[in-house]
Amino acid sequence: MFVCVCNALKERDVRDAARLAGKSCPKAAYAQLGHKPKCGQCLPFAKEVIENARACG
Ligand code: FES
Repeated sequence: MFVCVCNALKERDVRDAARLAGKSCPKAAYAQLGHKPKCGQCLPFAKEVIENARACG
């Protein structure tokens, strides 16, 4: 499932990037993947995806 349509980032990409970056903020995860938020519509969902991933280890 896509989290960010503007950058074609999938849920798994964002989750793995957040883990690698050791950050919980979507912008840091996107930066890890070489992208930046564009429209910003995805940020609340991306944050939720990252928080759920961290909660589950
Ligand atoms: S959907 Fe992610 S920046 Fe637009």
